[in-house]
Amino acid sequence: MAALDAAKPGLSGDGPPPSWRDRLAGRIDRWMTSPALNRWASASPLTRWLVRRRSAQLFGLMAGFVHSQVLLACVRLRVLEHVLAAPRTADELAGLCRLPTASLQRLLDSAVALRLLERRGGARYGLGSLGAPVVSHAGIRDMVEHNAVLYHDLHDPLALLRDPNQAHMHRYWPYTEEDAGGAQPPAPEAQFARYSALMASSQRFVIDELLAAYPFAGHRVVLDVGGGMGGWVSALARQHPQLQLKLFDLPLVAALAADAVQRAGLAGRISTHGGSFTQEPLPRGADLVTLLRVAHDHPDATVRTLLRAIHEALPLGGALLLAEPMAEAGGAPEPGDPYFHFYLLAMGAGRLRTPEALSALMAEAGFTHIERVPNRFALHAQILVGRKARCLPANTAECVNLN
Ligand SMILES: C[S@@+](CC[C@H](N)C(=O)[O-])C[C@H]1O[C@@H](n2cnc3c(N)ncnc32)[C@H](O)[C@@H]1O
Repeated sequence: MAALDAAKPGLSGDGPPPSWRDRLAGRIDRWMTSPALNRWASASPLTRWLVRRRSAQLFGLMAGFVHSQVLLACVRLRVLEHVLAAPRTADELAGLCRLPTASLQRLLDSAVALRLLERRGGARYGLGSLGAPVVSHAGIRDMVEHNAVLYHDLHDPLALLRDPNQAHMHRYWPYTEEDAGGAQPPAPEAQFARYSALMASSQRFVIDELLAAYPFAGHRVVLDVGGGMGGWVSALARQHPQLQLKLFDLPLVAALAADAVQRAGLAGRISTHGGSFTQEPLPRGADLVTLLRVAHDHPDATVRTLLRAIHEALPLGGALLLAEPMAEAGGAPEPGDPYFHFYLLAMGAGRLRTPEALSALMAEAGFTHIERVPNRFALHAQILVGRKARCLPANTAECVNLN
């Protein structure tokens, strides 16, 4: 009896007793899982549509791993590029992909079902509505290819949950070692170049979101912390000729950024600075600091250090703009959340945070007037902006309104 009681929520002594809502939800759960109700709901014309819709949703959930592998096969075989050049038959594609027609046919039919391809006249295949963005964005294809690492780590999800440090994804990102407690081991330069190239190709979506969402024209000098190869500062330099730009990243990455900036002819506008934000102070002089897809890589302790360093580097009245995918974008858990929850688990010590959790960390570091800047596609990133107050707390009476 004691064991049974312990299994009931609220009776084990480690939580409040269930509310009447919880008890009602529990009854509904038991009712919904009764075979008799299922049989009745599947047969009744009133509820059949709902059962059908839920069955399809659940089947999609179960089959999702096959769907992503169909996408990976299409990307690796360049099927979408082949049909973009001209609609092709299965035989023609089999020749181009060097696969037997009979097995390729299964991939092509699957890709049609997933709207990556569509059927055209003369038994040919053309580009489908979901194939078009894949073929036009190298960033999507690079992420699909990179997801093979996560796919491997998710092969045994329980092993990953028990010991995330064993994940291959963890080794892909050398800087996560420091967060995991060890000294940063020397990683081959190529490893920094590899992740930086991936970030550069996938950053385009975030850049477009930011340029459309925030009035950068109001600033003079922007510092991008964890700026990678400089795609974002280069885009800002081109779009806003009045801005001076600075980039800060780990020394090997900052060196790659310096080369890229030089090649783009922007060295006069953009300075690059190598260092670790957990060890060295950040460059001074910027009235806006941007932090794109950086905080979610790190545990709260590192994010606190980073946000304090940014606050310290800013002048009074300066601003921090933080953009990255956030949890529960629309105020409730979203289907995109599991991807980032598991990616960041496999990566190391970071986590997907809600806008509220990030705002709280920003406030703790001293930022005020923290607000969300609305943007078009929350899946790529959401945006928070906070200010360094124009006065020190001791001089509150003299504070100038920041708005
Ligand atoms: C996920 S990438 C994002 C890069 C870029 N902001 C973007 O959105 O494409 C995170 C970046 O933070 C940098 N980074 C990680 N730890 C760092 C540290 N301790 N100090 C400076 N930069 C760091 C990495 O080198 C990498 O360029």
